[in-house]
Amino acid sequence: MQFFVDTANLDHIREAAELGILDGVTTNPSLMAKEGISGEKNILQHYLDICKIVGPGRDVSAEVISTDFKGMVAEGKRLAEIHENIVVKVPMIREGVKAISYFTEAGIRTNCTLVFSAGQALLAAKAGATYLSPFIGRIDDMGWNGMALIKEIVEIYNNSGFETAVLAASIRNPLHIIDAAKAGADVVTCPLSAILGLFYHPLTDIGLEKFLEDYRKANP
Ligand code: G3P
Repeated sequence: MQFFVDTANLDHIREAAELGILDGVTTNPSLMAKEGISGEKNILQHYLDICKIVGPGRDVSAEVISTDFKGMVAEGKRLAEIHENIVVKVPMIREGVKAISYFTEAGIRTNCTLVFSAGQALLAAKAGATYLSPFIGRIDDMGWNGMALIKEIVEIYNNSGFETAVLAASIRNPLHIIDAAKAGADVVTCPLSAILGLFYHPLTDIGLEKFLEDYRKANP
């Protein structure tokens, strides 16, 4: 399973990249706004900065703001021209599926976002989406089961031979990452804090302290 960070924060992206475990980045308009990035010129520059940090072969999802086919196509083309790492993120609406079909024909990679059902997952795969982003955390927040949706989509895609990668999004904690891996997700995108949460186990800290203490005793 690939690890993406779901952020537009350059420090967080750098930190994940330095760990050597980063496969890509996803962003969305809310995450860009959170970093204070506004205006088309600044937004395009910020995506370029992200692509340079992650390096070659690591996908960076950049989301369109338009909600009509023509606007999404024009915007998506501008985004795709920024850098070869860019994947155009398109919302799961009728015009979005049309745009994904267009981008597939044009050889532009896409990430279909705001996915909350197996039916939506089928449509995106039929349109040739490169990635599909079901929002696990937001489903869990409503008292439904986000991970059950991941399992359902993985089963459908395997049965039908779709090549669209299942990218578990809206991840809230380390357990979500582990469960996404168990459910067969191809990619997980999460805040850096969720990835760092995977490190922690008290027995590791206690064990290391004991090793170092024993070393110090034997090497006064
Ligand atoms: O980037 C899309 C998704 O990961 C958003 O997550 O935490 O806003 O539900 P969240």
